[in-house]
Amino acid sequence: MTTKRFYKEPLSSLKTYYQELETVDKQCLWHPFTQMQEYVKQDPLIIVAGEGNYLIDIQGKRYLDGVSSLWVNVHGHNHPDINEAIISQVGRISHSTLLGTTNIPAIELSRRLVEITPPGLTKVFYSECGATSVEIGLKLAFQYWQQRDNPRPKKIKFAYLQNSYHGDTLGSVSVGGIELFHNLYQPLLPEHVCVPSPYCYRCFLSKNPDDCEMACFENVLSIVEARHEELAAFIIEPLVQGAAGMIVAPEGYLKKIREICDRFDILLIADEVAVGFGKTGRMFACEHESVSPDIMTMGKGITGGYLPLAATLATDEIYEAFLGKQEEFKTFFHGHTYTGNPVTCAAALANLDIFEKEQTMVHLQGKVTRLQELLTRCKSLKHVGDIRQKGFMVGIELVSDTKTKESYPYEEKVGIRVIQEARKHGLVIRPLGDVIVLMPPLSTTEDQLREIVDITVAAIKTVTEG
Ligand SMILES: Cc1ncc(COP(=O)(O)O)c(C=O)c1O
Repeated sequence: MTTKRFYKEPLSSLKTYYQELETVDKQCLWHPFTQMQEYVKQDPLIIVAGEGNYLIDIQGKRYLDGVSSLWVNVHGHNHPDINEAIISQVGRISHSTLLGTTNIPAIELSRRLVEITPPGLTKVFYSECGATSVEIGLKLAFQYWQQRDNPRPKKIKFAYLQNSYHGDTLGSVSVGGIELFHNLYQPLLPEHVCVPSPYCYRCFLSKNPDDCEMACFENVLSIVEARHEELAAFIIEPLVQGAAGMIVAPEGYLKKIREICDRFDILLIADEVAVGFGKTGRMFACEHESVSPDIMTMGKGITGGYLPLAATLATDEIYEAFLGKQEEFKTFFHGHTYTGNPVTCAAALANLDIFEKEQTMVHLQGKVTRLQELLTRCKSLKHVGDIRQKGFMVGIELVSDTKTKESYPYEEKVGIRVIQEARKHGLVIRPLGDVIVLMPPLSTTEDQLREIVDITVAAIKTVTEG
């Protein structure tokens, strides 16, 4: 295939290249989290454009973007303000390094991030994806205890929740608790400290969340109490364990984790990669419980979902433990080539400006309530076991038997079949196992929310009720 400037061709002419593109896609491209043996049997969905809350494929068909292009898009696609910021910055310079020099968008964005995050977070360290922001958080926490005044060298482990997901690099996998993704890599990983997670629908204590008084927390407490001398930090996805199937923690859970961290001298790392930038109904999920972590990681929505950027924020106390003369070797010896890339930071600044200009968080509140009302329709479906929602993050757990909560056999691929059915009707969503995930851009209108839920309900019915 000769290299064509496809992006210069009119959209309407692209469909003539479909077969050629399909062949190359299947020959050369290895897709993430995808069983390629099955992928190559299907017709690929080739996205060529985006417009607001819609994706447009190569045939010109429009789809609502029901998972905000993997939980990243905030204000819709092709927003003129973000486009303009990116293009303007490219017109000046596309990249220069933060090792030894600095740039204006990275400087400005660091101040804005400090202003909008919970009190106490004062320093910003950039990277390019959620997993690297987590790696940085883990390394900062470890190194802090090693070299602060009054060091605590035994603090080299991390507490993490069962079912947690913090990315795919080895460090982040080592604090991940999803068997399917993480177990295979065990031989490569340092051992950390796993504590039970509050998955109320499948409570490991078989309690009822209405009157359990968070009994599961006692298990967390006893593990932390026993191992706190070696714990550098507790890492948590605040309020929603996204990749586990949108598991929503009971109210007050995060605050309790903060309390035990304080009580046992453990740093708290809040991984806001998925939940940050409005997705739970607040700018950051920690705000729901007025929690200030010691370290906060963010990515995904930081640029409005346009370009890869991530950040790890830390407190003055952590930062100061890294200060000293060059020859004391207290430097944080970490940095990725594109750290603080000015184009991505310009996109992030435009993203934050739109939050203000369009009053995104104000308008979101009514839409969250509307989404909740719309979702009640799912309750009557024969195979819907649980519906979980926090803000614009939704998980609909499908089960073969709602009484016993028995899951479908893996090979039935119920989740995948539901999203394929939804796609036929103009909705792009992705499942997590048999949990159907909805997480549209925050700009999605009430009418579009209704359409998303209508299509999802119909798809679930077709697949599970025949
Ligand atoms: C909570 C959380 N942390 C980290 C990550 C990893 O982000 P990335 O895929 O950008 O590396 C994800 C991705 O879904 C996530 O949900």
